Amino acid sequence: MYNNTMKNIKNKLFSKEQVEIGPESGYDNYIMAIESSCDETACAIVKNGREVIANVVASQIKTHAQFGGVIPEIAAREHLDSINIVIDEAFKQAGDLKPEDITAFAGTVGPGLVGCLLVGLNAAKTLALTYDKPFIGVNHLNAHLCGNYIDTDLKPPYMALLVSGGHTQIIDVKSYSEQEILGETIDDAVGEAYDKVARLIGLPYPGGPRLDKLAQEGNPKAFKLPEGKVEGYNFSFSGLKTAVLRLVKSFDEVPVNDVCASFQETVSSTLLKKLKKALEEKGYKQVVIAGGVAANSEIRKKIFALESEGYKVFAPPMKYCTDNAAMVASCAYFNINTFDDVNTEVFSRIKC
Ligand code: KG4
Ligand code: ZN
Repeated sequence: MYNNTMKNIKNKLFSKEQVEIGPESGYDNYIMAIESSCDETACAIVKNGREVIANVVASQIKTHAQFGGVIPEIAAREHLDSINIVIDEAFKQAGDLKPEDITAFAGTVGPGLVGCLLVGLNAAKTLALTYDKPFIGVNHLNAHLCGNYIDTDLKPPYMALLVSGGHTQIIDVKSYSEQEILGETIDDAVGEAYDKVARLIGLPYPGGPRLDKLAQEGNPKAFKLPEGKVEGYNFSFSGLKTAVLRLVKSFDEVPVNDVCASFQETVSSTLLKKLKKALEEKGYKQVVIAGGVAANSEIRKKIFALESEGYKVFAPPMKYCTDNAAMVASCAYFNINTFDDVNTEVFSRIKC
């Protein structure tokens, strides 16, 4: 399956004038979305950007665990095996709702693994063409933020901390479709740092959640580790990772729980410090956390503690933190400027 196979099909561009979608449309929108950017094949149907009608996720974690990380070619093949199953299951969960009742079909266009993205995106495009509905391409990072609209009344403006396996960003969300990245990591993403540190202390993949669990049993003050010193709202985690490596090598028997707790304490307080600075500078009272690492217990604890200082804090429930398609459907609904034609290409790295 290649995007180019679609090039021969009549260029079907759906504009906002032709089909009203989004909060201003004045009628109920049912968006079916597909997510396949990494190692989860997911399909969901969401009503009006906030109400989940169906949510199906097929995880490949077991397949990749034996290799200690995601193998792109194997991941793409597994997406091919699972894609029709997750779509069928989503319609089953939706009961009486038929493909004809779907307002638009959405798919993640990037960033992600190209071979993986192509599977989900072409499935979404095919559904749109088959049922003569609009197709909406969605940015995966944007979708993570939109996970916070599900089952809540969150409205911009707000400050967001986006922490995943590939990205660490502080984002000023000015409106549903207008955002400014205030800062980001200059080297490793937070999730990447978690996974690398987990690996060097011998934890199996996926390391992040396992490290988090062990950290809860350890002493966060056991070891003083260096915070990355970077200007403004940017982050750096590679020095911290090297410091943990040195620390681990200095022991015959590694005090694993204390190392994990000290690492977790350093990461979470660095993130919180910069997030708070951004909140104060912009004068926002709403703060949002998103991305796979938003599932981290200590990061959540520190951010929710901001509520005692008068901030309103939003964090998706665990199932909408890690990759899922409900957040993609919500994003398609709220980012009304993302209408696309069926020739939309996938992309592997962030493009701003
Ligand atoms: O957003 P996500 O599902 O995929 C990407 O788009 O990257 O994030 C996956 C990342 C992985 O690095 C994983 O180790 C990390 O999120 N992660 C965690 C936790 N749960 C997932 N890191 C720390 N603590 C957790 N509880
Ligand atoms: Zn993700």
